Amino acid sequence: MKKGITVGARPQWNTHIGFLLAAIGSAIGLGNIWRFPYLCYKNGGGAFLIPYFLALVIVGIPFMILEISLGHKMRGSAPASYARVSTRWEWLGWWQVLFVMFGIGLYYSVVIAWCFYYFLLSFGLNWGADPNAFFFNDFLMISEGPFEVGNIRLPVLFSLAVIWFLNWFIVFRGVEKGLEKANKLFMPLLFLLILILMGWSINLPGSSEGISVYLKPDFEKLKDIGVWIDAVSQIFFTLSIAFGILITYASYLPEKSQIAKDSVTISIANCSFSLIAGVGVFSVLGYMAHKLSLPIDKVVSKSIGLAFVVFPTAIGMLPAFSQLFGVLFFGCLVIAGLTSSVSILEAFASATIDKFHYSRKTVVSVLAVAGFFGSIVFSTQGGLFWIDIVDHFLTQYGLVLGGILECILIGWIYKACVLREHIDSVCQSRLLSWWDYAVKIVIPATLAVILVNGFVKEVTSPYEGYPWLAIVLIGIDWVIFTLFFAMIVAARPWKDYQS
Ligand code: ALA
Repeated sequence: MKKGITVGARPQWNTHIGFLLAAIGSAIGLGNIWRFPYLCYKNGGGAFLIPYFLALVIVGIPFMILEISLGHKMRGSAPASYARVSTRWEWLGWWQVLFVMFGIGLYYSVVIAWCFYYFLLSFGLNWGADPNAFFFNDFLMISEGPFEVGNIRLPVLFSLAVIWFLNWFIVFRGVEKGLEKANKLFMPLLFLLILILMGWSINLPGSSEGISVYLKPDFEKLKDIGVWIDAVSQIFFTLSIAFGILITYASYLPEKSQIAKDSVTISIANCSFSLIAGVGVFSVLGYMAHKLSLPIDKVVSKSIGLAFVVFPTAIGMLPAFSQLFGVLFFGCLVIAGLTSSVSILEAFASATIDKFHYSRKTVVSVLAVAGFFGSIVFSTQGGLFWIDIVDHFLTQYGLVLGGILECILIGWIYKACVLREHIDSVCQSRLLSWWDYAVKIVIPATLAVILVNGFVKEVTSPYEGYPWLAIVLIGIDWVIFTLFFAMIVAARPWKDYQS
């Protein structure tokens, strides 16, 4: 290990199941409930499961093994772990945790805040008879475009304060008393709620048509490279890989750990959750189509519209206990989101504590306040446009580029076989040597295809038709500024543990 990278005593998970639930909690998030079902529907229904599961096996699980074993071996957050491989690469760790905390984390909290507000509205179905007009005109009061930021939306701000308070409360209490306890409470509850919702939905009239549209395979779609790219990107986002989170969580594991087995467990739990959520979502859409005598493609909507427009409409049409259904659905979204947002905060907090040795309480409090204020721009009337642009650039370029560089660092500079030896030395079963090739060649090459394809699309037509100025000032600048700050922080010396 490199000299000078002293991180002090590390907290530890109290139980193995505590670690598993926290990692599954980080993986299962907003993306599983609304993004996965929609992607599946758009990309050939059941046929999409082929690229999805291939991406899981070829990219997702090997990458997760990489991150968990690295954190376990180096006993540090992402910057500390990379710095221990090579001090020249510390900036990469800072970049990842910086854009994840001060990018993804900021707007992700705002979307959880919307879910929380809708959770409250569900008690009286207070989105009225026209949920579309309610969401865009009354709730968001959406402006004309990203440059018209407008006013801060007070209902969003109020909910945001609640979400950042909860983020703070959980992470402030530490690994064992905060993250582990919260996930031990929330994750079983989340699984129970999703099973209740699925059971309820599949018993609604029209649900079977919804499910058959969701899963009916259209193999023709598999000829489109975009479908394969969507599958890999979804696997990346949904498993929270290249976020710096799994490295951090694994650094709190005890010496003897089942790295490969745990990676498979976390991935399977996450992907099963997505499949179950999809069955529930499409059953409700089937019911709605049945009630309105419309085909499903007239009621389905992508991402944000699905949760805040289509679902409130469908909930209002339920024959009985509609409020309860709304409370359970939005409650699920809040819990799923929260267990991911705390992991984002922890990854940055842990990195700061490792390098500068400030107390957890101070670091988490400062970060939660900064996070709350940083989220405000996404709570304005133009916030939805900002979310859309920042999300696109950070997930399409930040995560993918970070992932490629991580593979180069570990696969080629540190050498994948060295890390594999570590995995074999702490696990009961041995990892096959094809893992080395996955890390060195298959994963970076797959990610490079995504990067190049996205870039070509970008220059030929600006994302979603936004003005170039908005794309550069909001999207590209977010990537560049976080990179710049990462370089500055990485250049600071590591605080000596004795001083
Ligand atoms: N993995 C988290 C999600 O899918 C970030 O929402």
